[in-house]
Amino acid sequence: MSLRTKERTITRFHFPRWVDSLKPLLGGGAVFGGLYAVVVLTFGFAPTATDVGYMPRQPIPYSHALHAGELGMDCRYCHTTVEHTAHAWVPPTQTCLGCHTNIHPNKSTDTANPDPKDKLNNLLVAATSGNPVPWVRIHDLPDYSYFNHSAHVTRGIGCASCHGRVDRMEEVWQQERLSMSWCLKCHRNPEEHLRPLDKITDMEWRLPRDEQLALGAKLREENKINPSTDCSTCHR
Ligand code: HEC
Ligand code: HEC
Ligand code: HEC
Ligand code: HEC
Ligand code: HEC
Repeated sequence: MSLRTKERTITRFHFPRWVDSLKPLLGGGAVFGGLYAVVVLTFGFAPTATDVGYMPRQPIPYSHALHAGELGMDCRYCHTTVEHTAHAWVPPTQTCLGCHTNIHPNKSTDTANPDPKDKLNNLLVAATSGNPVPWVRIHDLPDYSYFNHSAHVTRGIGCASCHGRVDRMEEVWQQERLSMSWCLKCHRNPEEHLRPLDKITDMEWRLPRDEQLALGAKLREENKINPSTDCSTCHR
């Protein structure tokens, strides 16, 4: 599948979520609406990317706990761009079909009349129609901030530091606040998180705190890691 199609899946959900918080202004009473505007403007569109625990319902009950946990698949098997580009993307239908053309535990699929009990049905519907699976985006920073995956994972920050134990999640949810202070906390003290590059996707990898700080300091020095706290790094 082409990158264009993958992008479509993502950009559909790119509209900043705080826009939702403006809805009462359109529908609600004028007094409440006015109050709401003051609150929203004062707190700078607060409810943006910081909704810890956010776990939308997905179109296919795809499980990371099964695929990345039990089956032990590496994150990069599906999130192929994570080391090379700003975005990790979600995989195209074709990646799933590589296995699921053959693996189909509950075979009853009639794509014209989807059987809700068949967990793979929406995958096969997507394959037949050629449309991407409409995955719902979970992590989403406001557009005025800039993030880059490759800048982190090629310098020794593992997926687990920011996304938690995804290999144990039936459904992915947001573990960290993704707030500016969360970014800055690590940019000031990256040794708390730095790990060897061959452990980036290792979900089990963990050291006692003093060993982590010693290794982190060593890796920081050797690789000259110096995360910037300049505003223009993340707001460009
Ligand atoms: C078999 C393919 C596959 C593998 C392997 C895989 N993922 Fe995913 N990942 C997906 C799909 C499909 C989605 C979108 C649906 C969802 O959110 O569950 C996704 C979504 C995510 C999201 C949420 C994206 C968002 O919308 O914010 C994160 C974070 C993530 N994966 C991290 C990981 C990590 C970390 C690993 C390795 C431990 C991993 N994935 C392994 C297929 C995979
Ligand atoms: C490397 C092979 C492989 C890939 C790639 C793969 N899967 Fe799977 N998947 C499996 C296996 C093995 C099972 C377990 C089958 C069983 O329970 O017998 C499974 C189970 C499932 C199930 C549960 C099916 C059921 O009826 O219980 C769903 C849903 C699923 N996968 C969706 C996906 C999606 C979506 C993708 C792409 C993002 C994907 N898989 C990629 C191997 C794979
Ligand atoms: C330094 C923290 C950090 C690390 C390390 C990290 N992520 Fe992310 N991830 C984020 C943030 C922040 C977002 C939201 C990005 C946005 O909205 O632009 C995100 C979004 C995603 C998404 C949704 C699609 C996208 O790219 O926006 C996927 C999938 C994902 N991450 C997978 C991974 C995988 C797999 C790894 C490890 C190989 C990883 N991430 C490592 C912070 C991180
Ligand atoms: C767990 C630690 C950690 C977290 C959390 C983290 N970063 Fe970073 N960040 C780093 C490290 C380490 C580097 C690489 C510094 C280097 O190469 O010297 C980096 C680099 C970057 C760069 C690249 C700067 C450049 O010079 O190109 C950007 C942009 C960035 N981070 C943005 C963010 C944003 C936005 C967030 C929060 C959403 C975030 N980071 C959260 C550790 C982190
Ligand atoms: C390491 C990345 C990073 C750096 C450096 C950074 N910011 Fe941010 N900033 C963010 C992120 C991510 C958000 C969005 C947080 C959210 O969604 O709540 C944000 C949000 C903001 C906001 C919106 C209000 C808020 O607090 O949520 C303002 C204003 C802001 N930053 C100003 C600055 C200024 C001024 C600097 C320089 C002193 C700066 N930022 C440096 C990542 C960064």
